Amino acid sequence: MSKFSHEKFEKNSILLLVGILVMVAIGGLVEIVPLFLVKSTIEKVEGIRPYSPLELEGRQIYVREGCYVCHSQMIRSLRAEVERYGHYSLAAESMYDHPFQWGSRRTGPDLARVGGKYSDDWHRVHMDDPRAVVPESIMPGYPFLAKTPLNYSDLVMRLKANRVAGVPYTDEMIATAVEDLEAQSNPDADWDGLLERYPGAVTRDFDGNPEVISELDALVAYLQMLGTLVDYDVFEPEADGNQR
Ligand code: HEC
Repeated sequence: MSKFSHEKFEKNSILLLVGILVMVAIGGLVEIVPLFLVKSTIEKVEGIRPYSPLELEGRQIYVREGCYVCHSQMIRSLRAEVERYGHYSLAAESMYDHPFQWGSRRTGPDLARVGGKYSDDWHRVHMDDPRAVVPESIMPGYPFLAKTPLNYSDLVMRLKANRVAGVPYTDEMIATAVEDLEAQSNPDADWDGLLERYPGAVTRDFDGNPEVISELDALVAYLQMLGTLVDYDVFEPEADGNQR
């Protein structure tokens, strides 16, 4: 640019402002336009399904208790992370999370793949008193969860609200929500319908007390399914690099 035209920009603040806007707009468009050209920014991944009613209520307790303040649920695609926690997180793995639980701090470890890492018994003791299993832990105990019966009177509303946000809960899933929630933590229930609607759902009495469905039942059901839906032995990212 010649000295003359540059001077014009420098001495006229309006012209400078317009120039800045044009440059920022170009920068923005270069980032945004490609997003309109791809069909979806979330790669479809085999195995991903909406949360079962019990898991959804457990997730609600996770949010209510602020577990996200200390725990993230997003494994970054860095070697150290992948070696510690397992396969990096896929967008699809949190596509039914409203709100998402990626978190921004790790006072405790990432929980994106904690499902199946420990037994229900371990979780039961850990939630009651973390120092009973991890002596140096600074995590607070949540002993009241095991003693508090789960209030799921809002379950149908919760599924419907998630549906408004885009989670594909069907009319059937909403109609059977209460039944499905009660079946999942009951070792004697008939699970066929539940497993058909929510493939791979873990079904058992999670809190060691079959008498009541406690908040701990729901929370452990949720923790035990985290990161377990995708089979990474067979998963292959889409070749066009569209999976991030
Ligand atoms: C004040 C921070 C803090 C809060 C709040 C917190 N945690 Fe933790 N959590 C930790 C720390 C630190 C550890 C590591 C030591 C341990 O295992 O207790 C941990 C460990 C864990 C583990 C074991 C993870 C692993 O891979 O070993 C689970 C599961 C867990 N927390 C669940 C929860 C849940 C569920 C909540 C909410 C009800 C919660 N935490 C709230 C700090 C926290």
